[in-house]
Amino acid sequence: MLIKTRKSYQLSEQQVTDESVYHSRRDLLKKLGYLGAGSLLAQSAASQASPIDFFSSKKDTVFQRHALTYAKAEESSQILTPEAKITTHNNFYEFGTNKGDPVENAQDFNVNPWQLKISGEVDKPYTLGYDDLFKRFPLEERIYRLRCVEAWSMVVPWVGFGLAQLIKQAAPNSKAKYVAFETLYDPKQMPGQESRRIGGGVQYPYVEGLRIDEAMNPLTFMSVGLYGKTLPAQNGAPIRLVVPWKYGFKSIKSIVGIKLVEHKPPTTWNILAKNEYGFYANVNPEVDHPRWSQASERRITTGGLFARNRIATLPFNGYGEEVAQLYKGMDLRKNY
Ligand code: MTE
Repeated sequence: MLIKTRKSYQLSEQQVTDESVYHSRRDLLKKLGYLGAGSLLAQSAASQASPIDFFSSKKDTVFQRHALTYAKAEESSQILTPEAKITTHNNFYEFGTNKGDPVENAQDFNVNPWQLKISGEVDKPYTLGYDDLFKRFPLEERIYRLRCVEAWSMVVPWVGFGLAQLIKQAAPNSKAKYVAFETLYDPKQMPGQESRRIGGGVQYPYVEGLRIDEAMNPLTFMSVGLYGKTLPAQNGAPIRLVVPWKYGFKSIKSIVGIKLVEHKPPTTWNILAKNEYGFYANVNPEVDHPRWSQASERRITTGGLFARNRIATLPFNGYGEEVAQLYKGMDLRKNY
């Protein structure tokens, strides 16, 4: 099925059917007359046990306008994946390799205090503390498809801000050609980092990278929440990357370091299996994984009798209009 993708920002407005929970939250918001995000910061000491609800805090922004404009979708493939699925079907090997492990093993993951350092080839390196993650940049909501390299996908309403804003604030110099990301390394909290068996033999800390032009693309997003609330630990709290036109493994979780660098940085899955996971990892139905086809995907929705769960995979996960020009002249079979 062909999904006509307008600018990604518009996806939320007409093309998405939301979960009933989300409808009722929206109705509540209307009744309350746009209670907004101001008090969010005062509450930001909240732990995983009591996530901040962006919707129930005071006034603000683009974020609310998006939240208020969801409409029924014609296209079943655009149905929002229920919150309960997004938060229980996870890949976060630091907490175990089974899909249900992260939700179970990450419940005590402590994200406050947190430090995210922006450094490297920049004139103004800086560090964001936990509260800064929510207040330094205006938050907005983006509804993106997430396509895992394992051939399943979801539609997720993220909350966050563009990575470009964070990078610009550091004033990159002319040597900044790539951006390297690093997940927290804390084996005491992340059992997979301590045990080969639990962590799947991955080399930790988990690292990822983008070319600078990919990082600055307006689609590239830093997420601090989903479904209107702070991110659950298993989804990468307190802050993660979301690159919707690339396979999900690029979207690194629980980030503590963002470094602007001159040379292509190493990336976790590439280190583990170079011939299976490339640096670019752009979603591409024409380039199969050596062990399985990438032509279609299983969309995780509410299921049910009429759900069309198997759908065709689109080049760049349907975001070609916004990003294909980044790869002009490149052989995408070689640069998988
Ligand atoms: N980030 C870290 N640090 N560790 C991981 O194991 N898994 C990746 C990515 N980010 C992973 C990670 C993979 S393979 C996918 S598909 C997505 O996270 C899954 O995100 P989700 O669990 O929120 O759906």
